[in-house]
Amino acid sequence: MDVVDHYEQGDWRADLVFLTGDLVQDDTREAYRNLRVVTDRLGLPMQVVPGNHDVPDLLREELAGYGYCGSFRGAGWTLIGLSTHAPGRVDGVIAPGELARIEDALIRVDTSAVALFLHHPPVRLGSVWMDAIGLRNRESLFELVGRFPVVRVIVFGHAHQTFDEHESGIRIVGTPSTGRQFRPRSDEFTLDDRPPAYRRLEFRPNGRLDTEVVWIRTSRHYASDA
Ligand SMILES: [Fe+2]
Repeated sequence: MDVVDHYEQGDWRADLVFLTGDLVQDDTREAYRNLRVVTDRLGLPMQVVPGNHDVPDLLREELAGYGYCGSFRGAGWTLIGLSTHAPGRVDGVIAPGELARIEDALIRVDTSAVALFLHHPPVRLGSVWMDAIGLRNRESLFELVGRFPVVRVIVFGHAHQTFDEHESGIRIVGTPSTGRQFRPRSDEFTLDDRPPAYRRLEFRPNGRLDTEVVWIRTSRHYASDA
């Protein structure tokens, strides 16, 4: 809600919204309906990848019309969503069939750059508890994208914190939560006092990515260092 309010009140405009998973905390149809009331206000194309808290079948039913692990082609870039959802698990796995699907999509890409979107971090963040619930088969993902230099960027959610580093020549970008944040580099689960946020991603036709995190100060949150 805070993020949508902020977007509506500002001047910056997007072409697409990519929701990087954990759209609900409670596994209910009602939760997805409540989310949709807010996200539909944006009036933008939506792409979704599932997180560990999501129930993919419910998500797809209630967010019908939103792209689910889909792709979006723009000037010079193809954006591709992939699932790391593993039923009953908090950590993430890219199933063999999903890896094959992404490989097939990469073979057919006709743009000069690709960004992948997934829920679980594909790299270690230096946070003991979070790294234990990241993407289990990171090596499989990097083996795949290593064969397709067109993949320039990977964007993840899950970690409720900002992140922007390179791994194997690929820019790895983490997006904070639109709700509560987790403290980076903590050994145990620790909430941060940073406010809700979203990430603006501007994919340039020349293959460059300009991106920034927008922290949203509200009367209900206090940011000590944002
Ligand atoms: Fe998650």
